[in-house]
Amino acid sequence: MADASPERRCRVAVLASGSGSNLVALTDAVRDGRVAADVAVVVSDVPDAPALDRARERGLTAVAVPFDRTDRAGWEARLADTVADHDVDLVVLAGFMRILGGAFLARWPGRVVNVHPSLLPAFRGADAVGDALAAGVHVTGVTVHLVDELVDHGPILAQEAVDVAPDDTRGTLLDRLHAVEHRLLPHCVDLLARGRVRVAEGRVQVLGA
Ligand code: GRF
Repeated sequence: MADASPERRCRVAVLASGSGSNLVALTDAVRDGRVAADVAVVVSDVPDAPALDRARERGLTAVAVPFDRTDRAGWEARLADTVADHDVDLVVLAGFMRILGGAFLARWPGRVVNVHPSLLPAFRGADAVGDALAAGVHVTGVTVHLVDELVDHGPILAQEAVDVAPDDTRGTLLDRLHAVEHRLLPHCVDLLARGRVRVAEGRVQVLGA
């Protein structure tokens, strides 16, 4: 993204379909001054997503743009317009369970970020935790990346490994992955908000690292 101007604080849209624990972690980090950005709007494709309630409880603007499988392009255009209405610099996918196409991504080029519960490129897709358990891997983890037109793909901002214990269930593993996500995502949003990320040939360079 462009260098953060001294006059303008980075404005973030958070897109979430589910429980919103990453949204909460991000807003807590903003409140505590660990992220140099403000959450301008929270948008969900699921009208009764708990993430929307958690946003409203925190005094944030929360909007549903219900997914419409009969008009996917129209839905995506409405979603993009809703985000744009809030004059947003950065879009954070925090458990957003829809694939965004080129029309959306072109409006925030290199400025859409996703958190995924695996060490990409392993275990792309909607059930990364279940797939990791089924594969019997000893190590999985968390990836935060910029979003391109492929699913769970794009320049990697940060990754952190999480050991898989022999007796792990989906729940126990997910708890440890979430704890990492809640630290890594705010850190990456802060880097982007401060203009500290450069991308060349698909690779991320963090300035001043
Ligand atoms: C997270 O595990 C994230 O990696 C994945 O979806 C989950 C969202 O969890 N993309 P939450 O809604 O933030 O609690």
